[in-house]
Amino acid sequence: MHITDYSEYQIAYQKSLEEPDLFWAEIAEHFHWRKKWNKVLEWNFEEPNVKWFQGAKLNITENCIDRHLEKNGNKIALIWEPNDPSEAHKTYTFIELHKEVCRFANVLKNMGVDKGDRVCIYMPMIPELAFAVLACARIGAVHSVVFAGFSANSLADRINDAGAKLVICSDAMSRGSKQLPLKNVVDEALKTCSTVEKVLVVNRLNWPIHLRNGLDFVYDMEAEKVDENCPATEMDAEDMLFMLYTSGSTGKPKGVVHSTAGYMVYTAYSFLNVFQYDIDDIHFCTADIGWITGHSYILYGPLLNGATTVMFEGVPNHPDPSRFWQLIEKHSVTHFYTAPTAIRSLMQSGTDHLTPFAMHSLKVLGSVGEPINEEAWHWYHVNVGKERCQIVDTWFQTETGGILISALAGISPTRPAHAGQPLPGIHAVLLDSKGNEIEGNDKEGYLCIKFPWPSMLRTTYGDHERCRQTYFSAYKGYYFTGDGARRDENGLYRIIGRVDDVINVSGHRFGTAEIENAVNQNKNVVESAVVGYPHELKGQGIYVYVICQNMPEAAEQNWLRSSIIQTVAEEIGAIAKPDKIQFVSGLPKTRSGKIMRRILRKVAEGDVSNLGDTSTLLDPLVVEEIIIGAVL
Ligand code: WTA
Repeated sequence: MHITDYSEYQIAYQKSLEEPDLFWAEIAEHFHWRKKWNKVLEWNFEEPNVKWFQGAKLNITENCIDRHLEKNGNKIALIWEPNDPSEAHKTYTFIELHKEVCRFANVLKNMGVDKGDRVCIYMPMIPELAFAVLACARIGAVHSVVFAGFSANSLADRINDAGAKLVICSDAMSRGSKQLPLKNVVDEALKTCSTVEKVLVVNRLNWPIHLRNGLDFVYDMEAEKVDENCPATEMDAEDMLFMLYTSGSTGKPKGVVHSTAGYMVYTAYSFLNVFQYDIDDIHFCTADIGWITGHSYILYGPLLNGATTVMFEGVPNHPDPSRFWQLIEKHSVTHFYTAPTAIRSLMQSGTDHLTPFAMHSLKVLGSVGEPINEEAWHWYHVNVGKERCQIVDTWFQTETGGILISALAGISPTRPAHAGQPLPGIHAVLLDSKGNEIEGNDKEGYLCIKFPWPSMLRTTYGDHERCRQTYFSAYKGYYFTGDGARRDENGLYRIIGRVDDVINVSGHRFGTAEIENAVNQNKNVVESAVVGYPHELKGQGIYVYVICQNMPEAAEQNWLRSSIIQTVAEEIGAIAKPDKIQFVSGLPKTRSGKIMRRILRKVAEGDVSNLGDTSTLLDPLVVEEIIIGAVL
């Protein structure tokens, strides 16, 4: 399963296309199964119906933890670093992790959680978050982690959509210099949630919390009632392991569903090969477990490989911009995996904060979540990697579960700002607008995948038709990623960005319609239109065009802007706050009432040289007004 040179990659890739069943069956042999599969793959993309390793029985936590106990029980599985450097870090060996996860699982069982129940986890990056996720998997409950930056409204939507029975949260959280209440947010959310029976609260900051009898439970007290042994529940290969909400082109976020065996096999395989993980390596992924990168490359991928994984509660610039480098030196990190937005923000602080740190341990640097611009790539390579580390620019999505396009560190060819070649098993193609495959290199098109891979999404929770429409209907017979890409002269892929109405702000995905819905909740707003525009730090910024009942006077505009920003923070969360708000008297619409977003995007980008034909608009004059009033 471990590819060690480029010719092995080429052979593996070829084999994965020609004999996919055999290829994946051989890889799957490396795991612990209670019972092996009867059939490797069954699929069609019309429904879609994708099933991997049918008939197999397993539990993913036995693969993440139990099977390492005998040989590597005293090896450190998890290193946790708190937000504040003055607080001590914590480590957990595989034996200790096993105990913690089992104890947590027993608490969940005592609280009435059964196999198949959905559990919503709304927590900061503390060890108990990892235990909670793995405890759900241990007993076959479906975890739905909601990033702790989402608002009460967003949390409530996700709880309701999933029909969650239990919410796990903490009293509060520290992030950078801020402390935020989490239990209060949950209390607020639960006002509109009817499926939640209980709330389990982990203590992080000793904040006073309001405990309701029979509804709220404190983890430490519940943990005293149970022991540290919990047999793993036997799961079918295709049983749901987790869901994770992500934004799409329409207003409502969807619960992307991942199943057990396929997700396990692919995240382990991709982790091992992309990062070229070696037995004593220390892997530090800076993502939050609220996103897919955290699921796959802080928790499951590393633990499945018996690796040591670092989990960090804080942010890159707290208490100062050297925090990452200090942590790398402190824990002899070999693999550092972060997002371009973090790199760009650290770049802004110059290089003095890096100079004292040689970071000799580092071997591989990773980038994920959005296209990395060449300048950031070089800065990363020179200043962090000291020109001796491999860089892997890894492309994937919540829906793909694991990395699909990336160099294998030190093995495949790399080029700045290019993700590289698809992993074995990933039949990537570029399509033109008519849905024809574009052959050859030095070409650009819509990035699609032609054949199933084990960790692909199985459905969108509670709405299979939405899954079909979103991913499998644009191009018949293909999974459509929503991204545009270019294949360079040597066949390396460069991801250009989303071609749908999704914007990527600091690596976080939002649907433009989702933000419009939020903006429209402000009582002063009649209508709005949201577009992305290039933003130096965030990759893309959020630009909102707003129509009010009457065009606001200049003096009113500032408080109106604050009020709209506040509304978005309440509806979605602070991570979706608009960067620019322009008040307009109308929007450029076609005669059939469709907003011409192309024009709005151009104006937001500050490039009005080529707006195309505007004569077909309902009111061409509105374009003039928008150009004059643009917020640049
Ligand atoms: C974008 C994050 C360029 C892309 C793992 C994709 C990237 C979306 C890269 C998925 C990359 C992710 N280069 N763009 N290396 N990685 N993207 O679901 O547009 O939060 O469709 O998963 O992020 O975002 P998601």
